[in-house]
Amino acid sequence: MKLRAIRADITTLALDAIVNAANSSLLGGGGVDGAIHRAAGPDLVAQCRLLGGCKTGEAKLTGGYRLPAKHVIHTVGPVWRGGDAGEPELLASCYRNSLAIAARHCFAAVAFPCISTGIFGYPAEAAARVAVAAVRAHAVDAALPGEVVFCCFGEADLRIYRNLLDADG
Ligand code: AR6
Repeated sequence: MKLRAIRADITTLALDAIVNAANSSLLGGGGVDGAIHRAAGPDLVAQCRLLGGCKTGEAKLTGGYRLPAKHVIHTVGPVWRGGDAGEPELLASCYRNSLAIAARHCFAAVAFPCISTGIFGYPAEAAARVAVAAVRAHAVDAALPGEVVFCCFGEADLRIYRNLLDADG
């Protein structure tokens, strides 16, 4: 599996799927969730309404509508509560469950935002370590997706991911 880190607005990426850092209602919000819903148009929230929400750590698939990406995988990251409330395991399961959906649907390339590190307050470096480890663990026994993009919104996040991917990649 190819892992890359880029700096971009995830709504501009024309891949099989982009991942949304959603909330459990799946009905939209701020941050990357708001940007994805704005770019996808109102049909996205209409489909999301049929999904019955999503628990923390789980993931659900929709179409991409007006996005250049064909699909959106919605996952709900944990709110950071200091690190002793199961946050790392819940964050890892966001990546694991999103990748399982991607593999099941034979997606070749998927992009993740830095889940939980904005409004939900998860420290960026700790979150990146969980993200990279979970993606690598998936790749041990799954051939798909063949490419995972860590889509960083800011320069600081990009540096963190590049360091992690260079150091032991
Ligand atoms: N492209 C890529 N990354 C982005 C974009 C974008 N267009 N916009 C923001 N980011 P956040 P969370 C980055 O707050 O912490 C929503 O209200 C951002 O810089 O979007 O998981 C949901 O509905 C940060 O690195 O998600 C939930 O209620 C990362 O995306 C809650 O926020 C995640 O920040 C979820 O909070």
